[in-house]
This record gives sequence, structure tokens and C-alpha cells, in this order.
Amino acid sequence: MSILIRGGEVVTADDGKRADVLCEGDKIVAVGEGLEAPAGAQVIDAGGCYVLPGGIDPHTHMELPFMGTVASEDFFSGTSAAAAGGTTMIIDFAIPDPQESLIAAYSKWRAWAEKAACDYSFHVAITWWDDSVSREMEVLVREHGVNSFKHFMAYKNAIMADDETLMNSFRRAGELGALCTVHAENGELVYQLQREVFESGITGPEGHPLSRPPEVEGEAANRAIRIAEVLGVPVYIVHNSCVDALDAVVRARLEGQRVFAEVLAQHLVIDDSVYRDRDWDRAAHHVMSPPFRSSEHQDALWRGLQAGMLQTTATDHCCFCTPQKQAGKDDFRLIPNGTGGVEDRMSVLWHYGVGMGRLTPSEFVAVTSTNAARIFNIYPQKGAICAGADADLVVWDPEATHTISARTHHMNIDFNVFEGRKVVGNAAVTLSRGEVVWQGGELRTKKGAGRYVPRPPFADYWRAQELRNTAQVRGKVDR
Ligand code: URP
Ligand code: ZN
Ligand code: ZN
Repeated sequence: MSILIRGGEVVTADDGKRADVLCEGDKIVAVGEGLEAPAGAQVIDAGGCYVLPGGIDPHTHMELPFMGTVASEDFFSGTSAAAAGGTTMIIDFAIPDPQESLIAAYSKWRAWAEKAACDYSFHVAITWWDDSVSREMEVLVREHGVNSFKHFMAYKNAIMADDETLMNSFRRAGELGALCTVHAENGELVYQLQREVFESGITGPEGHPLSRPPEVEGEAANRAIRIAEVLGVPVYIVHNSCVDALDAVVRARLEGQRVFAEVLAQHLVIDDSVYRDRDWDRAAHHVMSPPFRSSEHQDALWRGLQAGMLQTTATDHCCFCTPQKQAGKDDFRLIPNGTGGVEDRMSVLWHYGVGMGRLTPSEFVAVTSTNAARIFNIYPQKGAICAGADADLVVWDPEATHTISARTHHMNIDFNVFEGRKVVGNAAVTLSRGEVVWQGGELRTKKGAGRYVPRPPFADYWRAQELRNTAQVRGKVDR
């Protein structure tokens, strides 16, 4: 099947130009002006629209078993909702329980993801350590296309990785050419503060941010970064929510350390007043970690994104419906942590980013797609519009206006953290591997059409350069 996308402005992370895009099967085969439609080709008129690489959300949790329940969004509903918003690939997480085999957990998540409608890949979490974990990391890298490992510095007594585990895993990942990613919150501090807040009589959702102040995140981000520096490995900090974490990232980057950092669409536009909502359910729906922050943090996050200090945008899409959130009715510590957003990320970023003059269209493409593809080593298969790339494309209508609402969204959650926001800019047509999956406000996704995307390890020279940088910082080699 051929598809010709005609008359749009093709925008990549590098440039924008008037061009047509021809897709054959699941690949882009030509980009240029005045392309002929082959016989039988479907022609999509992109006049007045941009043509963008499909969005990549590098941080989602479909059907995650977590805090005594399972996230309500599965791989089919979640990737379908993503497509409705212009996102054509997710990187989700396989999270072994402590003592569980990494391969067993990875295989379980792979099976769950068979129903995905768009492409996906997996970071694998390191939640414990012994020699078998070290061996299985190698198997995952060499045989299964896993090039990133996740570490939760929070969630004590569950999936938290202590410093010893971080060190062992970071070192091993470095040897294997894999990237370490980190949820940065000091789990011990959170644990103690939660107890103190609860015992002081604060049992509702307002206790959640009190037990996870910005310092808790800043400390952990800095610790992870410094451990990575000493070991000479790159590191990626997920969901930076505050100045404190951003400062640690900026300082390290200015010292020449290879540190990457992600920000969530939610943290960019939602502030901590949501926890003071008198409606318990509404407040509980905002319980996620790290929590929402006061407005000066949002300003700093936007500046970090504009300056390139934050390279990727994600959603940490992890949906729990109201009855699930109500498990913590009498104790905020039991409210399952997580919010949704995979469908809304692109619109929110376009509206508040491009629409408000903070980002150019090319910068938008970089932070919603290309940078994630580069950092996780799948560029230019993903995140690009060029011959040979996967035909994951979005015809983006910069004038389309819609009001975000749980009543109309496609995500499997009875709440939307962006409820009532009127946003300008939306996906008019989404193609996943050359198939139209969203057009005219209609989803056409197919269960199981998505494919697993293996991600190769990073090249040796990249690691060598990293080691050299580290040595330089420590003054061991000539500059
Ligand atoms: O609250 C959150 N973020 N839930 C999902 C798990 C995680 O920490 O990423
Ligand atoms: Zn997290
Ligand atoms: Zn997460």
C-alpha cells in the first residue's frame, strides 16, 4: 500500500520545508516537492498543516501492576489513545519484583504488549542485585534489544534500588553500552516524611506533596548524577519536576558530563494547588510522584526545555480510575501513584510551547520525538522524516482547537488532569508504520499491529568518550 502526503510543511528537528512524503508499506521512500502518486496510492492532503515525525513518549506504564492494583490502561487502549494525539511509539517499563528474574519480567511485559496498536519498546528496571541480574542484563542487551535500565530511588520496601544496587547496575550497564535511567527521589526521606505527615493527622492527598518536597528529588538527582560521574557512565533522569533536580542536571551538563533529562507535560503546566482541591477524588487523581510543584518550578522547567537542558518530554502515563484511587481514602500513602496523558502530550506541548512562543516547530519535534529517538538509539528509524525511516507520521493541524476532557478522550481512565483546557493544535491524521490509524476524529487502530522495536547498545567510541570526559573532570588527563 502506498500513501502520498501532499502539500504540507515537513518539519523535522533540523528544518522545515514544503515537501510531499511518499510511503510504501511501512517505510518512507521519498521526501520532496512535486512527488507523483503511484497508481492506486492513497493521497492525503496536508495543505495548511505540518507533517511531523510521530511522537515518541519515552515513559509510559501500560497495565502496570503497582501499589496493590493494576493500571487501567492496557497496551491496546493506551497506544490507540496515543495515536489519537499524534504519538506513534511508547517506551514502557518491564519491572521485575525483587528477586524476580529480569528475563521473566521482560517476557511477561512482552506478552502483555502483543496487543499494542503502535510500536513500543521496553526499559527494564533493576530492583535488586546479584550475579544473575548482571548476567541477565547482558542477555537483554545482546539478545533482546534492551539498551536502557531503570532505577527507582523511591518506593522503599517495594521496587527501590539502594546505592549499592545503583553502583553495580550503573557499572554493568556502562560495560554493556546501555543507558541508566533514574526515578530520582530519596526513598528513605519519603518513607520517614510520609510517616511524620500521616502521624501529624494529615491523611488526605494534601499529605502527598508534603512528604515529597523538591529537596527530596534534588538530592536523589544529584546523587545519581554523581555516582554516574564517578563510574564514567551516562545517565538519564526521568520526570524532572523541580528547580532542585534541574539544577543538578544543569551543573553536571555544564561540567561536560553526559546527563540527559526528561520532563512531563503534566509538570510543565499543572501546579500544586491541585492538592488543595476540596473534592477528594479530584485531588487524589493528581497523586503522582514526583508531585506537582509551585509555579516557579514550571517556569524553570520551561526554561530548561528551551535551553536544551531537558531534552525529552514524556507523560509517565500510569492510569488509575477513581475506585482504584479510593484505596487510599483514609491514608494518602495508599493512593496508587500515577496520572494519564499519553493522548494529550503533543497538544499540550504545542499549545503551551509553540503557541506561546516558547518553542519553534522544529524544537517541538526535537522534544516530542527526535531527541528520544537519538538518546535511546533508534534514530533515524524513528524520530525522522527521510527515505528509509519508519512511516510513523503526523499531519499536524496547527489551527485545530479542542477542549481536553475525560468525556471525549480515548484513554481508559475516568479523569483527565488537563480537563477543561482549550488547546490549539492537534493531530489531523496519524500514520503508524504506513497505516492510517487516526483520521477525521476516528480511531482506526488494530489490536496487535504495533511491533516491538529493539534498540541496539551504544557504540564503543561513545563510551570511550564518556570515560575520557570523566577523567578530565577529575583532572587525570590533559585537556
Ligand atoms: O507516580 C508515578 N510516577 N507513577 C508511576 C511510577 C513512576 O514512579 O514512574
Ligand atoms: Zn517514576
Ligand atoms: Zn514512571
